[in-house]
Amino acid sequence: MAVDLEGNRRAVAGVAPYRRALASGSGRLFAMGRGALVHGLQLLGCGPGDSLLLPEYICRDASDPLLDAGYEVRYYGVDQGLRIDLSSLDALIDSSTRAALVVDYFGFPQTLDGIARFCRDRGLYLIEDNAHGFLSADRGAPLGFRGDIGIVSIRKTLSLRDGAILLVNSAELRKRGPMDPGIPRVSWGSAFRWGLAIAGKVVARRLPRALPTLQRGAQLLGSTGSRLPPPSAIPVPPDAKATASLGPISGESWFEIAHTDAMKIILRRRANYLRLLDWLQGDRRVHIIFPELVEGICPYVFPILVDDGSRTIEEFRRRGIAADYWPDLPPSVSVSPDLYPSAAALRSRLVTLPVGQDVRVRARAEEKGSRGPRNLAERLSIAYRP
Ligand SMILES: Cc1ncc(COP(=O)(O)O)c(C=O)c1O
Repeated sequence: MAVDLEGNRRAVAGVAPYRRALASGSGRLFAMGRGALVHGLQLLGCGPGDSLLLPEYICRDASDPLLDAGYEVRYYGVDQGLRIDLSSLDALIDSSTRAALVVDYFGFPQTLDGIARFCRDRGLYLIEDNAHGFLSADRGAPLGFRGDIGIVSIRKTLSLRDGAILLVNSAELRKRGPMDPGIPRVSWGSAFRWGLAIAGKVVARRLPRALPTLQRGAQLLGSTGSRLPPPSAIPVPPDAKATASLGPISGESWFEIAHTDAMKIILRRRANYLRLLDWLQGDRRVHIIFPELVEGICPYVFPILVDDGSRTIEEFRRRGIAADYWPDLPPSVSVSPDLYPSAAALRSRLVTLPVGQDVRVRARAEEKGSRGPRNLAERLSIAYRP
């Protein structure tokens, strides 16, 4: 399948909307998405004792800080296509309910019409959690700008230790005046050091490509299971948890974000996604959750549903493919699979495949000439071969 890279340039919003939000005082930087969320709720006038609606399929990284801050969290349904089950919402609300949070899973836009109407009719705030979709847009409309407030965990897409943004979108909230954008001061000395560090990362990334033999050796090691660490809820930079998660963004991450080549990242992620689509479409062992990549979407990963998620992840990783599960569910959801069957099924069946800017998925044409039918992990190891 030919990947139309130039065509992808249409409908790409890039970093401009975030820059505009920071400049106009409707955006504020944080270390992490969870900090942006807690702060955003305060701006909405929510506080301890209020109840919030979250999807049952969500990570505890998002729900724990809300519980810590004294909110009561109630979980609504999400189907196996990651769409909101509107029929589950009404039974959850009472006079303490203040807001509903929706997730744009893996950088793909959630359909908001139904829940936006639900919130409007009942006087609830709508929060767009676009933690996974920095740089992602729906036909030119950037994600994170569609609820009363939105959050974006920039660090995930860019693989940084920290970096997130809160977006205040409602005209009523904006009337209260501009926010401090939270942009750190960067001295010349630190800019020079970080510039060198970024250059070092670029060289380190390119070196293996210049040394295919070494790369091949590393891949062979991978096939014996010794290269990849154990699976986690999608790679999180290792020291991320140690960051003061509710605090401000670090100068170093801000410097790196400000020097990001957004177009390159979007094009690479889209090209990787489209190529995987070509590899996997029609394979009966796999259900593709998002079989279409609408213009402007910058995917975080390629999610698939399989019969046995953990076995598939194990087989993939044995072949050097950095597949993961998602997420670590909130404890109250994971202990009650009867109450939350959809989340339990997604947690056991959903596998994420990497499409990040640090990987390059091969075109399927390269499969030609190699031996006949193989198992899924074997086939995909060709797609991911360096
Ligand atoms: C859907 C969702 N929302 C919010 C968050 C919180 O983002 P962060 O890890 O940057 O705090 C995460 C990530 O863990 C997430 O997956």
